[in-house]
Amino acid sequence: MLTEAENNKKKVGEAAVAYVKDGMTVGLGAGSTVNMMVETLAKHLHKENIQIHVVPASIHTERLAKKFGIPLTDFSEVEQLDLMIDGADEVDQQFQLLKGGGGSLVREKIIASAAQELLIMVDESKLVATLGRFPLPVEILPFGWELTAKKLAELGAKPKIRGGEDKPFVTDNQHYILDCSFGEIPNPQSLHNQLKGLVGVVETGLFVDMVSTVLISSDGEVSTLSK
Ligand code: 5RP
Repeated sequence: MLTEAENNKKKVGEAAVAYVKDGMTVGLGAGSTVNMMVETLAKHLHKENIQIHVVPASIHTERLAKKFGIPLTDFSEVEQLDLMIDGADEVDQQFQLLKGGGGSLVREKIIASAAQELLIMVDESKLVATLGRFPLPVEILPFGWELTAKKLAELGAKPKIRGGEDKPFVTDNQHYILDCSFGEIPNPQSLHNQLKGLVGVVETGLFVDMVSTVLISSDGEVSTLSK
């Protein structure tokens, strides 16, 4: 028996796989919504007799895709993707995203920037008027992370090293993540630019002007917002 949250993830995943067509190269993000969607995607490919190739955004997503027999590819073979399907931690009214709760923001952003269309799956609770309720994940180099954290604090954040100082969480890229509470983020592009200007910062979880479609689940029903 699925919980309400799991059922919402299942439904939004079912709606997302309908966008996958024969011959596509598809990016798959990371996180619990994507995890649930991978099996649904495998069933969709089998049922519709569709052939695709997938670029996964995390080692975990890659393992899941392999487990369900979904063919993989990478940027040594493709330059452009038709579609990227991913989750998000927050979506604002302008379709700007805050991502990285699952720790895969760098690879997700690389894949999303190479995709013609970015399709985001969320439940209603992730929709916000202004980004910033969820602490902003910022991927940083481990070397000198304490200094990078101080620089972020000078820009108004309350940074916390993910996993704790004794055993920081390590990303698939062998980096750390600082979860940074900034309060409301009314201008995501400007904050992103400021953060990227700091030495030691690899990437931020702000995805600005990248999304084309958002699928939103609520009470097991899915609605679609398109730009
Ligand atoms: C991973 C992400 C995820 O898409 C985001 O954290 C949402 O995850 P979930 O589907 O588990 O709510 O950005 O880096």
